[in-house]
Amino acid sequence: MTVDITTKYLGLDLTNPLVASASPLTGKLSTLVQLEEAGAAAVVLPSLFEEQIEHDSWAVHDLYEYGSAISPEAFGGYVPEMDGYNTGPDHYLELLEKAKDNLTIPVIASLNGMSPGGWTKYAKTIEESGADALELNVYRVATDINMTGSEIEAGYIQLVQDLKETIDIPLAVKISPYFSSLASMCRRLVEAGADGLVLFNRFYQPDINLDELKVKPDIVLSSPVNLRLPLRWTAILRGRVDASLAASSGVHTGEDVVKLLLAGSDVTQMASALLKYGPSHLATVLFEMESWFSEREYTSVEQGRGSLSQVSAGDPEAFERTNYMRSLVTYSSRY
Ligand SMILES: Cc1cc2nc3c(=O)[nH]c(=O)nc-3n(C[C@H](O)[C@H](O)[C@H](O)COP(=O)(O)O)c2cc1C
Repeated sequence: MTVDITTKYLGLDLTNPLVASASPLTGKLSTLVQLEEAGAAAVVLPSLFEEQIEHDSWAVHDLYEYGSAISPEAFGGYVPEMDGYNTGPDHYLELLEKAKDNLTIPVIASLNGMSPGGWTKYAKTIEESGADALELNVYRVATDINMTGSEIEAGYIQLVQDLKETIDIPLAVKISPYFSSLASMCRRLVEAGADGLVLFNRFYQPDINLDELKVKPDIVLSSPVNLRLPLRWTAILRGRVDASLAASSGVHTGEDVVKLLLAGSDVTQMASALLKYGPSHLATVLFEMESWFSEREYTSVEQGRGSLSQVSAGDPEAFERTNYMRSLVTYSSRY
């Protein structure tokens, strides 16, 4: 049985709900083409960083090197080289234009920043270079002990408002789950103009090398267990915020995609699994997802979308505290 897997995300018509999220694989034309061939319905380019826009890349490089030289713990450089990922605004626009010229699927650009300021105006240049939408990744590690949560949240809202005033293409906001009141924060981001929410960004978490007694910069790929966080929050937000929902973190298989769609995602994004197994893994995930719906005689993905969200599920407490208590009782009864 043929299942209609077409999907709408940020007002864009997509052939299916699988998006390749920002990663080194979306930073090169050759792998972008492979992702499209494997069936990606859209791609998100790696982020261009606020720091890269504010200064030219050499000035930023010198500043970071200076900082690392005066800090013995950080000697050796705690800011990773951007060479090979993306070297700055000019290179970024080139990649975007090449992607637009060579792909038929929507290309979503990404900006990574946290402070209000002139850098947000660069979003217009990105729009003029052909991006179909923009993803804002607000990557903020709140280390200032004098700054309150409300002040930080106000900064997020301001950023979204500034970008919405700057561009006409749709804006998705990629956030972390670390807010005191995540549901309320999501509502406020949407009221500030976000057309979509990407749940969630995974924060880079440094490790310590005990042999060298150094802080070790390291990116750890996700595993399927990381799916549980976006799964819960997608289900809670579905039908409660007037915005597209994209799930990111821990999507590795077709079944992961199905779960997120039933919870209420419009699209699912993948980075780690594609880095681990290669761009062609996307075709496998797409096949598994489609087969699941087809075997159960769904006529479309839309038919199942959100059927297990909190507002639709027969057991709304499944996503809340009560279910935690229930789970503990069930688990403990084995001992
Ligand atoms: C090596 C690597 C580079 C990434 N670069 C970006 C980036 O430039 N911008 C961004 O928003 N997210 C970036 N991400 C985050 C991914 O897009 C994704 O949100 C996250 O890894 C969780 O999804 P996953 O479990 O499928 O990996 C990166 C992730 C990895 C592993």
